[in-house]
Amino acid sequence: KGCKLVGCGSAVPSLQVSNDDLAKIVDTTDAWISVRTGIRNRRVLTGKESLTALAVEASKKALQMAEVDPDDIDLVLMCTSTPEDLFGGAPQIQKALGCKRNPLAFDITAACSGFLLGLVSAACYIRGGGFNNVLVIGADALSRNVDWSDRGTCILFGDAAGAVVVQACDSEEDGLFGFDLHSDGDGQRHLNAAITENEADSALGSNGSVLGFPPRRASYSCIQMNGKEVFRFAVRCVPQSIESALKNAGLTGSSIDWLLLHQANQRILDAVATRLEVPPERVISNLANYGNTSAASIPLALDESVRSGKVQSGHTIAVAGFGAGLTWGSAILRW
Ligand code: ACO
Repeated sequence: KGCKLVGCGSAVPSLQVSNDDLAKIVDTTDAWISVRTGIRNRRVLTGKESLTALAVEASKKALQMAEVDPDDIDLVLMCTSTPEDLFGGAPQIQKALGCKRNPLAFDITAACSGFLLGLVSAACYIRGGGFNNVLVIGADALSRNVDWSDRGTCILFGDAAGAVVVQACDSEEDGLFGFDLHSDGDGQRHLNAAITENEADSALGSNGSVLGFPPRRASYSCIQMNGKEVFRFAVRCVPQSIESALKNAGLTGSSIDWLLLHQANQRILDAVATRLEVPPERVISNLANYGNTSAASIPLALDESVRSGKVQSGHTIAVAGFGAGLTWGSAILRW
């Protein structure tokens, strides 16, 4: 059984924050950020907006393009590291879309690789049988987890949502193949937003002590990152992964129409493209407008490229995600 992408959509918050805006709150400049990252603007969720609403908007656009009714969705995969409910956000999206058959909906947490892992999971569910239409959403609001006084990280991230519909098809039409996936928990020290536990519950007062342990309340620290190490990891591992994915698909670099990497830093995109000998005009980049939107970056860039007519039916795209975990991987798509 084959599977292919039949629709995409995206949504971003209305508030745009420029490099000059950030220079008002941390010691930085537009020139430093642009030269080191390629980022000029990013979108940030305000109190009036929700990540769930963005994910629903992106999903509706993808379903409309795919001409798939919400009732025909068999599975909703919400790829996010910033759910609005600790127990997962996917069922809320299923509910908001009005999927009447109560399809399975759950979250996948893998930071900036989340969407890629969602795509591969969709393909596995479809090929395993019983699933015909899978909605894969990549959505993150890292603005809620960033230390806005840390100029090394707060300049990088933006909020967004993107979605695709993956549909079962005959094997000759297969449009999602050549996977290559990895993780390395040792690298977590270079990029994390780890749990912190505080002694909690003043409300319990002295009653807390009868339990024999102090009640704890968990929260997460802001993003901690060693930028240089993450940069080195991306430039080393991503080209190898794409080469493996191409090999698994029986293709070579010259058969790629587009290189679509997780949008982390323009210098990473350029370095990977150079290693793979992909010319700059075949590299998709929208970093300047949105920054690093984590799990949303690939479907957001795909959606913009499809709607602008850049990516056309039959084009082959090498897609790669990489980020915290560490996790990384690639897939070859035929749009
Ligand atoms: N403005 C001005 N100066 C700055 C800024 C800033 N915003 N940030 C750091 N600097 C300073 C540093 O303090 C340092 O100063 P010093 O030399 O006096 O000590 C100097 O600039 C160099 O800092 P580096 O951190 O070495 O700068 P680098 O060239 O490595 O660029 C960057 C930093 C842009 C973060 C880069 O390392 C990078 O992009 N790494 C990859 C990060 C990434 O992609 N992370 C996301 C992964 S996705 C996920 O899973 C969440």
